[in-house]
Amino acid sequence: TYVITQPCVDVLDRSCIDECPVDCIYEGDRMLYIHPDECIDCGACEPVCPVEAIYYEDDVPEEWAGYTTANAEFFTATGIGSPGGAAKVGRAGLDVAPVSELPRQD
Ligand code: F3S
Ligand code: F3S
Repeated sequence: TYVITQPCVDVLDRSCIDECPVDCIYEGDRMLYIHPDECIDCGACEPVCPVEAIYYEDDVPEEWAGYTTANAEFFTATGIGSPGGAAKVGRAGLDVAPVSELPRQD
């Protein structure tokens, strides 16, 4: 899977959403999360993020290693589960650690 990391927080450019062929990028509150079971590893989202927040799971920088877990936990913590598309879900309005504990990033 691909993973969204800390640079997305409080930026939420959303260019990644338009690129994803399977609509597996979901909106929390202060960042977006990639569904690890729905992502098909196409990689289309990675180059369009203006703040380089998106990484293949094996390439996530050490300082943001916790975001691999956070992207997965978001879907259990919110109860979103695996609906097979973000469009029908909309904005969850909440985040998981470590995002929820970060000071404003802008
Ligand atoms: Fe965030 Fe970058 Fe997408 S800032 S919303 S991961 S384009
Ligand atoms: Fe979508 Fe990016 Fe995965 S475009 S399929 S979230 S690699």
